[in-house]
Amino acid sequence: MAEAESWWAQYRNERPAVDESRWASIKSSIEATGVWEMSSDELAWSARIAWRNNTRCIGRLFWRGLVVRDCRESERPEEVAADCFEHLRLAFNGGKIRPMVTLFSPQRPGRGGIEILNHQLARYAGYRRPDGQVVGEPESLDLTELAQSLGWEGKGTAFDLLPLLLKTADGEVHLFPMPDDCVHEVELAHPSLEWFQELGLRWYSVPAISNMRMQAGGLNFAAAPFSGWYMSTEIGSRNFGDQERYNMLPQIAERLGLDTSSPRSLWQERALLEVNVAVLHSFSEAGVTLTDHHTASDEFVRFVEKEREAGREVYANRDWIVPPMSPARCSTWDMEFLHEHRTPNFFL
Ligand code: ARG
Repeated sequence: MAEAESWWAQYRNERPAVDESRWASIKSSIEATGVWEMSSDELAWSARIAWRNNTRCIGRLFWRGLVVRDCRESERPEEVAADCFEHLRLAFNGGKIRPMVTLFSPQRPGRGGIEILNHQLARYAGYRRPDGQVVGEPESLDLTELAQSLGWEGKGTAFDLLPLLLKTADGEVHLFPMPDDCVHEVELAHPSLEWFQELGLRWYSVPAISNMRMQAGGLNFAAAPFSGWYMSTEIGSRNFGDQERYNMLPQIAERLGLDTSSPRSLWQERALLEVNVAVLHSFSEAGVTLTDHHTASDEFVRFVEKEREAGREVYANRDWIVPPMSPARCSTWDMEFLHEHRTPNFFL
């Protein structure tokens, strides 16, 4: 009730022409049932504010443009899976990626609702080989095993798309293989290093986080997959660069002919640079939206300015906002950060 009340105060403050009698009906619904039902405008506004409040996201300047899909009517796992797959198609939008969230029905007292077990709607599988080596995405080892235990068989490449795994309130897990037309991948090539393509690297276009819940007005939307477009360093520096992930830097440095025996040759930085160049180049060539960390930092600075002009404080997590490449060259470097979690928001 307390959270619904503060939600209402914010909503009536930010939305023009709200009906003042609305609060009484929300309140009596909570008193009678423990929950309340949002109108579609209330739902869309909540989702946009949840994005605007999320302290990890550098891309928040665009919060007003979030496309909100109201899928609260979908109950059966088949329907939920179809809505998730459609999310990927609609968000891709022929390469001109649209930020999007799909909301399923919120939890009610005594009814947990459906849960998406995948970390993202599209994500690669990871396989542990007998010699202990991992093929594919090391972060997906557990989910891949679960899918396999339910009868799924991956091809065994480093880039197999996982099926969607949905857990219903009765505890049962339902598996839906990824339809072919949902995910557009970009093959990585480098503008000047011809051998780069031979590494066989690729990445999907739409990052759609599916393991966070949206909390708004005291309601919990346990299944609320949301997506934006990528920033190049997410793929180039982290997904391919991290030692615990695809760990590509040693191979790339070797192809570059660098001395990898000492960190003082800066082979890691030079390899990182080239893989980031390849990501930016390849997404441009493919006509798929993706930003670079300098532009994203400048846009975040503008977001903070605009929010202050509107009389709102911005809360942010510095560890997540400052990009993982050339951090001190980015305009986010000098900012001061206040870190608090406001609702509406997305939580793990
Ligand atoms: N860092 C994650 C990944 O590489 C995606 C997180 C969300 N990113 C985004 N640009 N909306 O898959």
